Amino acid sequence: MTLLTELKPTLPSPWYYDPDHYVRELRAIWYRDWVCVGRLEEVPLAGDYRVVAVGEQRLIVTRNGVGQVKVFHNTCRHRGSTLCTAEEGHFPNGRIICPYHTWTYSLDGELLATPSRVETDDFRARDFSLYAVHSDNWGGFLFVNLSSAPAESLIDFLGVEAKELESWPLADMVSVHQEHAELKCNWKVFWENYSECYHCPRLHPELCKVVPAYKKGLLSHADDPEWQACDDDGRPRVAAGKKTWTLDGQSSLPLIEGLSDAERDIGMNFASFTACLFVVGHPDYVRSVRLVPTGPESVTLVIDWLLLPGVAESHGSEIEPMLELGRLVVEQDGRACELNQQGLRSSRHESGVLVPQEYGLWEFHEWLRGKLADDRSA
Ligand code: FES
Ligand SMILES: [Fe+2]
Repeated sequence: MTLLTELKPTLPSPWYYDPDHYVRELRAIWYRDWVCVGRLEEVPLAGDYRVVAVGEQRLIVTRNGVGQVKVFHNTCRHRGSTLCTAEEGHFPNGRIICPYHTWTYSLDGELLATPSRVETDDFRARDFSLYAVHSDNWGGFLFVNLSSAPAESLIDFLGVEAKELESWPLADMVSVHQEHAELKCNWKVFWENYSECYHCPRLHPELCKVVPAYKKGLLSHADDPEWQACDDDGRPRVAAGKKTWTLDGQSSLPLIEGLSDAERDIGMNFASFTACLFVVGHPDYVRSVRLVPTGPESVTLVIDWLLLPGVAESHGSEIEPMLELGRLVVEQDGRACELNQQGLRSSRHESGVLVPQEYGLWEFHEWLRGKLADDRSA
């Protein structure tokens, strides 16, 4: 990624609030790509379940008797009733029972019983299994794909970004703290904000003390016209004497084993999976931010802080500093995103302009236009 050499327009403003365009994006992206829906440890035992949202679709995530994760559309094969009305719970006796006429399914989605139905010769239970959804996981992050035949495997979708966090034992780690932020903005507004640091000097004074490159509004030292080629690749890093993302850059949590000296010294390694998830590996913890679009002008962020098992228990209140900076940055970004959304509603603002260091937005917009074009030609 390099600085833009000419001014580029932003996306048309109605793309951030028009309900029809929102549905086009759901179809072209969220219902076609792999989408992260949470962590595996959120359904630890056979029969545990959670209901998750992908766009306007509701899905049941559960585990069968041999511990495999299973994902189904939350709809009954009889006449389409919602099956699970709670956000999470446990299916007693491993049975998923419809609240309307009691059709009963196994944890593998097979139709097992249809109580009180008058028998006919043409009814075959095997024709009415729950609608299964493709799922796979990476480092304990559960992804689903709503298309009937995903165009690529999860690992291909994750691509080189996944390698950024290869050294972190993500699959062994567990979320020890989760927060939700419901923002009144289109999902793209948040992803755009994440894709640039032009806003950092003004919005994130605390973060800029920890990461000096951000004080210049740069995502990378390599973007700095005054930057002299040096022995690293220009990645931003925590300031000298600081170790991680906390307000003072210090931490009393144990260092994660297996990281290289460079990975530890840099203090922050990002892996971005446009546009449902980004994960940041720090020397002592991992933080993930998941996007859940909830409407044309709303998105929920789910933020998880991950540690190795037992660390949170043995360190008690020492985990609090780990939460503070990330929480503050999300609040600051969230406020800016909501102001951005409100302003996009102006009848005079048909489109804006990108400055050179907003190349991440341009790449995102090109990606988005490609997805919409693919969908139109499909
Ligand atoms: S709609 Fe589910 S049993 Fe009738
Ligand atoms: Fe920010």
